[in-house]
Amino acid sequence: MMGLSGLLIISILMWVASFINGATDSSDACALNNLYSSMNSPSQLTGWSASSNDPCGQSWKGVTCSGSRVTEIKISGLGLSGSIGFQLASLTALNELDVSNNNLGDTIPYGLPPNVQRLNLAGNNFNGAIPYSISQMTSLNLLNLSHNHLQQQLNDMFGNLASLSTLDLSYNSIPGNLPESFSSLTSMSSLYLQNNQFTGTIDVLANLPLENLNVENNQFTGWIPQQLQSINIQTGGNSWSSGAAPPPPPGTPPAKINHPKSGNTNRQSGGSGGNKSGIGGGAIAGIIISLLLVGAIVAFFLIKRRSRRSSPDVENLDNQPFTSLSSHEVHEMKPVQISSSNNMKKSETAASINLKRPVSVHQKSFDEDDFSNKPVVTKKLTPVPQNVKSYSIADLQMATGSFSVDNLIGEGSIGRVYRAQFGDGKVLAVKKIDSSVLSRYPEDFTEIVANISRLHHPNVTELVGYCSEHGQHLLVYQFHKNGSLHDFLHLSDEYTKPLTWNTRVKIALGSARALEYLHEVCSPSVVHKNFKSENILLDAELNPHLSDSGLASLISDANQAISHNACAPEVADSGQYTLKSDVYSFGVVMLELLTGRKPFDGSRPRAEQSLVRWATPQLHDIDALTKMVDPELEDLYPVKSLSRFADVIALCVQPEPEFRPPMSEVVQDLVRLVQRSNMSKRTVGNSSRQFENPDSIDGSV
Ligand SMILES: *[C@@H]1O[C@H](CO)[C@@H](O)[C@H](O)[C@H]1NC(C)=O
Repeated sequence: MMGLSGLLIISILMWVASFINGATDSSDACALNNLYSSMNSPSQLTGWSASSNDPCGQSWKGVTCSGSRVTEIKISGLGLSGSIGFQLASLTALNELDVSNNNLGDTIPYGLPPNVQRLNLAGNNFNGAIPYSISQMTSLNLLNLSHNHLQQQLNDMFGNLASLSTLDLSYNSIPGNLPESFSSLTSMSSLYLQNNQFTGTIDVLANLPLENLNVENNQFTGWIPQQLQSINIQTGGNSWSSGAAPPPPPGTPPAKINHPKSGNTNRQSGGSGGNKSGIGGGAIAGIIISLLLVGAIVAFFLIKRRSRRSSPDVENLDNQPFTSLSSHEVHEMKPVQISSSNNMKKSETAASINLKRPVSVHQKSFDEDDFSNKPVVTKKLTPVPQNVKSYSIADLQMATGSFSVDNLIGEGSIGRVYRAQFGDGKVLAVKKIDSSVLSRYPEDFTEIVANISRLHHPNVTELVGYCSEHGQHLLVYQFHKNGSLHDFLHLSDEYTKPLTWNTRVKIALGSARALEYLHEVCSPSVVHKNFKSENILLDAELNPHLSDSGLASLISDANQAISHNACAPEVADSGQYTLKSDVYSFGVVMLELLTGRKPFDGSRPRAEQSLVRWATPQLHDIDALTKMVDPELEDLYPVKSLSRFADVIALCVQPEPEFRPPMSEVVQDLVRLVQRSNMSKRTVGNSSRQFENPDSIDGSV
């Protein structure tokens, strides 16, 4: 009923919208008409026309609009020929133009979309020069001109492209030296110049915040600047000067732009001025004084930036383990160098300070610094922490009866789980990871162990120990007496009491808190990737404990999407696991709790096989809802509570990930639900089946 009227309203809105926006902006339409005829009116471009004036209203292949403006043209790899016309400059709302990998030719026209962020003309037959109009395209973020026939020297036209972070000019025939204005590319992180005919040195790149640089197969000479030696760099096929240490670059003024990753303390800079250049004492003093001055300016910006940081943010950082205020300050005054400490010596000689953009440049090293300060999961942290025990295979064999079938308690996508009883009477759960899983994922097992051992939450299954011997990899966890929620709900026999409504709410809330912890407390966030009722274990009091947390890296995306019946639509489509796909899976578990049905049940009539598809349209209809409820509940639930529960589900299983709420919001909703139903708990049957104390799920914490 609701669904139908909703649909009606939406279609009316769409009709009205189409009426209002009607035709495409006329100059956009004109530009596309011109583009189409310049490409010889290719039939591959379905919907396109050289005269029709409404690319936004009709659906033109590869064209995206916002309102009446064209915002994206993506027509890559369609075998298009001809040229791209001369009217693109009127596409002032265009963000992205991708005509890569076609057979388009001629020179690149001067008239290009002025506000474009991503311009991809790669893999065509464009020749001549790069048009000077590009120098005005200040929004440009990615420029890909690779695999063309450009053969003119680069003009000095890069001075205003401060947003450009990826530039690919590879596989052309561009001659000449790199222009001076390359040094203004202050966002440049990936630069591809390979397979051209560039000459001269690459000194002008020394101070860019590069992460990837390929200059292979050119005619470069000189030395590779030290600042670039620690990044991902490819330099083969050039005529580099040999010899140990490069001389100070001739003609380079003493205090120029600093590589943002290199140190900039006064001490370092002062040292460099004195040692290397062999200038007289007065000049040294002058340099030192000016460097001190510059240092003071930089420090001023540092302090300013720091104080601009919102205070909760600072508190937040300071509360994190391993991070104290003082260590922070130390890092801030000495940004960098952490990863490339072996280059410390060398960089000292080159250290100088960026006068031009101190704030933005340092911002970058700050962010890196903040990140490196987070108590995480970096590659270096491999030592296994003290709080988990290392078991031998022999121990575990003994405890599980040589991994006998009798002790098998579960089987998941990455291995089997056994009940293990130890000599001292202790019972634990042992997860034996399939060897194929770990060989597929070369990530260090001890690193995985270290990561899981850092997770501590009352609703997350605690790792007790591990075993890594003879090529076997096992994880030892707390054992939870009541098994998985899945089995409890779907495989119960007449001896198991059905879960009461309050217990179901308690399980939902506890599991929500576990996910909230992984998503919003852990840093960086942990995507669970495998949230399902099989992975919610129930202890003796039926409190939920989320298992398999921190194992996402072992889960093969493709297999997972197939085996996981409750995965979000975007995961099924593209294998994209995010926090929001976890939220979706959480909604599915709530649906299981509400209906007592499995996410997928082939034994039901076709329309009811997929739980989400069957249940979601009925979540807002209270009559339908009371018919959907697990019959095992025998109507022992407060209707208000039920409908609020259903409201939360509806939020979580929305098809658009961006509309699903964060887990903290879900937790809040469930807490409120519990508080309200506690106030009116007399309406719930006081039946003997209430085997938990409803007060135990109060919303405190
Ligand atoms: C540029 O385009 C070419 C051809 O499609 C592609 O191979 C290359 O990876 C692209 N470069 C970047 C940096 O994306």
